[in-house]
Amino acid sequence: MEFSTKSIAPGSTKSGCVIVGVFETGKLSAPAAALDRAAKGALAKAIKSGDMTGRAGTTLLLHGVAHIACERVLLIGLGAEKSFNEKAFRSALTTALRAVNATGAATAEIHLTALAAGTSDIGWRVGQSATLAIESAYRFEQMKSKSENLPAALKQITLTYAQASERKDAERGLAQGIALGHGMSFAKDLGNLPGNVCTPAYLAKAAQALGKRHKLKVKVLERAEMQKLGMGSLLSVARGSAEPPKLIVIEYNGGPKNQKPVALVGKGVTFDTGGTSLKPAGEMDEMKYDMSGAGSVLGTLKAIAEMRLPINVVGIIPATENMPGSRATKPGDIVKTMSGLTVEILNTDSEGRLILCDALTYAERYEPSAVIDIATLTGACVIALGHVVSGLFANDDALAKEVLAAGEASQDRAWHLPLHDEYQEQLKSNFADFANIGGRPAGAVTAACYLSRFTKKFKWVHLDVAGTAWKSGKEKGSTGRPVPLLTQFLIARASNR
Ligand code: BES
Ligand code: MN
Ligand code: ZN
Repeated sequence: MEFSTKSIAPGSTKSGCVIVGVFETGKLSAPAAALDRAAKGALAKAIKSGDMTGRAGTTLLLHGVAHIACERVLLIGLGAEKSFNEKAFRSALTTALRAVNATGAATAEIHLTALAAGTSDIGWRVGQSATLAIESAYRFEQMKSKSENLPAALKQITLTYAQASERKDAERGLAQGIALGHGMSFAKDLGNLPGNVCTPAYLAKAAQALGKRHKLKVKVLERAEMQKLGMGSLLSVARGSAEPPKLIVIEYNGGPKNQKPVALVGKGVTFDTGGTSLKPAGEMDEMKYDMSGAGSVLGTLKAIAEMRLPINVVGIIPATENMPGSRATKPGDIVKTMSGLTVEILNTDSEGRLILCDALTYAERYEPSAVIDIATLTGACVIALGHVVSGLFANDDALAKEVLAAGEASQDRAWHLPLHDEYQEQLKSNFADFANIGGRPAGAVTAACYLSRFTKKFKWVHLDVAGTAWKSGKEKGSTGRPVPLLTQFLIARASNR
């Protein structure tokens, strides 16, 4: 897919489809009105006939409209003008992309970006549109013997802006939106790959390939090195598996040399059977997505590297399977973490926190300005928040605010959940410093409490993406979240320093 952003009169240049918006009760948006004038009232006539009400989600495709250079005119219902905000803009774009993808048009000019939407600027609208277009074209077919879908006809999209003065912002937004789309696709691919392909070694190779392409420093620590570092907790999870664990470290240094990096720590359990505390069989296949945190770290690094964002970031990915092999950790086993603290493993299915704690301790050596860990950590978070927002926990309110704002700006939202001391008591153990589970109440909170014990030396946010990283059911597949949130967080940081 190719993109460009321009300021052009709708329908004046040759293309397969010109796309303009109509508000509720049939009011033409400014580009639609301009197109209607060029078409000598053909659009107004179609609206008058009752074929397009302007209601959100509706479309009308017109062919061979006289006096217009484009083969097709696609009208998109935008809903009420006064409630045409960022969310409505995204729905309109999604509708438009679906409709134009159902035609044979190879090129399209989309004039929805030229409309005011909420408090958005042109960069946001163009960027969001490019990302949505890449998302609409995403297919995961590499494991099928032959493609089920015809190749998409749409090859070239022009996103328009209203004022010539908006050119620079539109172009920056476009470049960022494309890079974000690529980062999301990368994260989706890694998530969608099955556990027998996407192993810890595969993740390490993917990181190395990414590093090569974008000149990132990649280091992969093997079991022996982790042993030397005292990562007894991470290694306890890998014990039951024949696949060797990897600790993947990637540095992107786009910022000044002396700038402390942001550390992104992603849970990379390439398959979670639960270990000795085996999960039930139903839907266990979805535990191939248990490396989605890792995937989002790699996807975000790809996006910011493509953008050449002026910032320093280090990605840290503990990668392992969680299997019930004969050497697997047993409930009641006690291990020593890299921090020196000991943990009684009462449930081997709480493996995410066991690998993250050592990765978080490892992050200390980078003296990070902020640490964000991303993990499909708890089923309890899915019960609490469903599939709409990610759970957010923090030991620093300013950082929490910054991450929440990035979620809002990217429409990849998170919700702040509590981390009060009282919850810590649920992790008490009679035999070790603490246990790795805190019982049924507030399961997402006690998981975060566990992690908080390893984050005393830096500002930290934990994102529980168990409900947002993938979809179940008929549309089963990775969502690429929270790559938009993370990327937006880094964009905002890079421009504020
Ligand atoms: N990977 C799972 C969390 C998960 C479960 C994500 C369902 C998405 C859907 C995690 O490793 C896990 O198994 N957590 C347990 C913790 C429990 C044993 C305290 C859970 O949530 O059931
Ligand atoms: Mn588990
Ligand atoms: Zn897990």
